[in-house]
Amino acid sequence: MIRNYIDWLINLPWGIYTEDRLDLKLASKILDDEHHGLEKVKERVLEYLAVQKLTNSLKGPILCLAGPPGVGKTSLAKSIAKSLDRKFIRISLGGVRDESEIRGHRRTYVGAMPGRIIRGMSKAGTMNPVFLLDEIDKMSSDFRGDPSSAMLEVLDPEQNHHFSDHYIEETFDLSQVLFIATANNLATIPGPLRDRMEIITIAGYTEVEKAEIVKDHLLPKQLKEHGLKKGNLQLREAAIYDMIRYYTRESGVRGLERQLAAICRKAARAIVAEDRKRITVTEKNLSEYLGKRLYRYGQAETTDQVGVVTGLAYTTVGGDTLSIEVSLSPGKGKLLLTGKLGDVMRESAQAAFSYIRSKADELNIDPNFNEKHDIHIHVPEGAVPKDGPSAGITIATALVSALTGRPVSKEVGMTGEITLRGRVLPIGGLKEKALGAHRAGLKTIILPKDNEKDIDDIPESVREGLTFIPVSHLDEVLEKALVGEGR
Ligand SMILES: Nc1ncnc2c1ncn2[C@@H]1O[C@H](COP(=O)(O)OP(=O)(O)OP(=O)(O)O)[C@@H](O)[C@H]1O
Ligand SMILES: [Mg+2]
Repeated sequence: MIRNYIDWLINLPWGIYTEDRLDLKLASKILDDEHHGLEKVKERVLEYLAVQKLTNSLKGPILCLAGPPGVGKTSLAKSIAKSLDRKFIRISLGGVRDESEIRGHRRTYVGAMPGRIIRGMSKAGTMNPVFLLDEIDKMSSDFRGDPSSAMLEVLDPEQNHHFSDHYIEETFDLSQVLFIATANNLATIPGPLRDRMEIITIAGYTEVEKAEIVKDHLLPKQLKEHGLKKGNLQLREAAIYDMIRYYTRESGVRGLERQLAAICRKAARAIVAEDRKRITVTEKNLSEYLGKRLYRYGQAETTDQVGVVTGLAYTTVGGDTLSIEVSLSPGKGKLLLTGKLGDVMRESAQAAFSYIRSKADELNIDPNFNEKHDIHIHVPEGAVPKDGPSAGITIATALVSALTGRPVSKEVGMTGEITLRGRVLPIGGLKEKALGAHRAGLKTIILPKDNEKDIDDIPESVREGLTFIPVSHLDEVLEKALVGEGR
């Protein structure tokens, strides 16, 4: 036991540091070569390098890259290590539910071991690696203790220069480590932990960005992995856009990469079996390679309908659209909500309902409607849980449409919280929602007035195709969204 302990102890990289490559130009080139876009993260890394060059004593920053799957969080962290010329170490925190996983077991236990942090440092072999804490949002806690509170010490720049592991029982300096955490969902990271990290959100890519990524990064990578040369396979631009629209539905590019791999496999087979020299994939023959189209581009409704409104949602996989359906049936005023709605969403549906009842007169609705009808609000897809207050105005619009018989414009998507007085409150994730709306082929977005400032964050190519209507009251929403006459 003691021998084991001493082995661990002397294997730790006490006092061994690698020299940072403080060449900003080169670092910037390496980052740009491997990843398209992601400016904010790259800038932050270069700033750190610049300050390091001036002071040479800066504590390692603790960054958290948050965003939907497949936007390049994990792979970017790897490039950051490469650009700084540091050792890279990655631990996955997904499913870790035991405090001693992080901080180790006391030596009195049989089979005791240091925690993952110390094991990582031992593997890195230096005191200043880039340390990737992957999937930090997927840690959970149970009776064996809360691993996220053990992480508090690791990630606190004021404390982590003497991190103590239960097994090692000597303080270990983590202050020169560059920690990068990744997360899909910030909401599941406990507040105090979130507070210690510098959060950089990555929203997801537009079609244009995805096409660039395919051409500059994914295709060359897949060609190489399949042993093909650049001349062997040509992929037309139109085919790339068709792949993005009809064969994937995502914010990141992981699905796209998989589809590319499928094309490369088929091409490799044709080259080997049929002795062909060059294969060209166009939008016409794309289905020979990838099969039938998997998705419909432009999920927007095809006609103006009564009681169906398109809302904009922000989920852990990025922005998306969701339609909200309301139907009336003879009954006694029961309000039925289905579609796996969370509490917040249910309450916001109640609020929308109460507002509409209180204003029935002005909205040209029979004031006694709830004595004659049951009202059913449904949000497909029924098995996917949904929550959040931002569907408030969407539900209210769907209700008014169903009760007055006035159809809703098919080109409009909307998002905004509603109060009992019909005011429209701001929401989060406008950029992601706009990307989702664009992907779905909507033309107009109704958004809360207070979110007007966020429009600037939306990429130009998406902004051009959309009309934004800021509103502060439900009356304005109804005026813009409802078309045609009612009953
Ligand atoms: N901007 C980009 N430029 C080039 N390649 C990219 C870019 N974004 C993502 N990729 C590629 O997409 C793939 C998936 O990225 P990665 O595994 O890093 O996703 P992630 O954000 O960590 O997802 P998850 O949240 O699911 O872990 C990788 O092969 C990566 O190289
Ligand atoms: Mg990842």
